[in-house]
Amino acid sequence: MKLAIGNDHVAVDMKKEIKEYLESKGIEVIDVGTNSTKRFNYPISGYKVAKMVAKQEVDAGILICGTGVGISLAANKVQGIRACVCSEPYSAKLSKQHNNTNIIAFGARVIGIETAKMIVDEWLNASYEGGRHQTRIDMITEIEKTQTLKMGEE
Ligand code: RB5
Repeated sequence: MKLAIGNDHVAVDMKKEIKEYLESKGIEVIDVGTNSTKRFNYPISGYKVAKMVAKQEVDAGILICGTGVGISLAANKVQGIRACVCSEPYSAKLSKQHNNTNIIAFGARVIGIETAKMIVDEWLNASYEGGRHQTRIDMITEIEKTQTLKMGEE
């Protein structure tokens, strides 16, 4: 498995710990930065990771900023991205099973490193269930591509 990881200036330490944690499990991790604590605009790393995921250069992505909100919003602007910000493992697991999320985000100012590891583990170990959930994802994709939602109206 190959992942991309990105962060802003407030999440440098957490990013490093998560990267090392994943590498210790044999997962390849591409770090798009930042590795500086100098003020950094999170859309840059959100966009970089999202593009790598959308182009299938990696299997999935992890994004960390202060809350996980801004960086996930930026990632979700890239076509094909379903990024979800989570502060606990249950939502992370369900976001994969039901929503087929391809990026998980969290906040270095919101959760601690052990919760972050738990979120990542639950998310990576979960599988998309398809079936009825695919109809809903197709609807999300329709909104993304056409800025309309006709599916389900008939
Ligand atoms: C940076 O101050 C902060 O706004 C950022 O890390 C993030 O929380 C944004 O959503």
